[in-house]
Amino acid sequence: MLTGKVAIVTGSGRGIGKAIAIALAEQGANIVINDINMEPALKTVNEVKKMGIQALFVKADVTNEEEVNNMVKTCMDTFGKVDIIVNNAGIVHTKSLKEITPKEWDLVMAVNLKGVFLCCKAVFPFMMDQKSGKIINIASVAGKRGGGLLGNSAYAASKGGVIAFTKGIAREGGKHGINVNAIAPAFTETDMTKDIDLEKKETIIKLVPLGRTGRPEDVAQAVCFLASSWSDYMTGEIMDVDGGLMMD
Ligand SMILES: NC(=O)c1ccc[n+]([C@@H]2O[C@H](COP(=O)([O-])OP(=O)(O)OC[C@H]3O[C@@H](n4cnc5c(N)ncnc54)[C@H](O)[C@@H]3O)[C@@H](O)[C@H]2O)c1
Repeated sequence: MLTGKVAIVTGSGRGIGKAIAIALAEQGANIVINDINMEPALKTVNEVKKMGIQALFVKADVTNEEEVNNMVKTCMDTFGKVDIIVNNAGIVHTKSLKEITPKEWDLVMAVNLKGVFLCCKAVFPFMMDQKSGKIINIASVAGKRGGGLLGNSAYAASKGGVIAFTKGIAREGGKHGINVNAIAPAFTETDMTKDIDLEKKETIIKLVPLGRTGRPEDVAQAVCFLASSWSDYMTGEIMDVDGGLMMD
């Protein structure tokens, strides 16, 4: 489905990002693995390489413009193009409004929202020149619901920002052949969610018509669809991968 394509996946050292990198590679795409943590990311690189697919690691903090631009430059220098970017790197925050500090708020916004902005800004000129590109932003149902399942209001605001930003640049990208879509997962089993207590998890599952939590692979498969030509007439779409939680 994606043979010969080139994809950057941010935060792909573990969790949903890792599953996305592996799923895109299974479909034939060469992958730039990005993360701030080198060790797990190199494991993802090795797993992809074992599949006979080209993969390289670029350490970059998505909040840092210079590092993001360097990541995209490395991709261009190595592969000569960037067909797909999946903006997945993110952090969760759970403190109440009373407890959260402005510094903590800024960090959530920097990683979850500014990081998406910087990565989109970095790839956009190349995708415009190519007259094609697929941008997939990993939002969250928190961005629609105002949090409440896992993340707090800061997390929800950052993901709501990703949803609005996705629609905004989908409008800009359309005439250049660039599709921009987002995925809104609900509770998904990763390191980010591993410390949640069982009682809360069971409460969440009761809200989900399909009766289970999400798996990283559930999100990864939706990403493959949005990265492929099968979704060529979709842009500005926010695709829920949530077991039916939202149905909005
Ligand atoms: N797990 C869930 O229930 C869930 C639900 C909805 C949305 N999401 C979103 O999915 C994405 C992935 O979540 P996950 O559960 O796999 O989380 P995770 O914590 O398991 O993995 C996140 C990865 O991003 C990397 N990262 C963090 N900050 C970074 C930065 N500044 N620059 C580059 N990389 C950075 C981390 O090192 C890590 O490898 C996030 O955007 C998250 O908000 C997760």
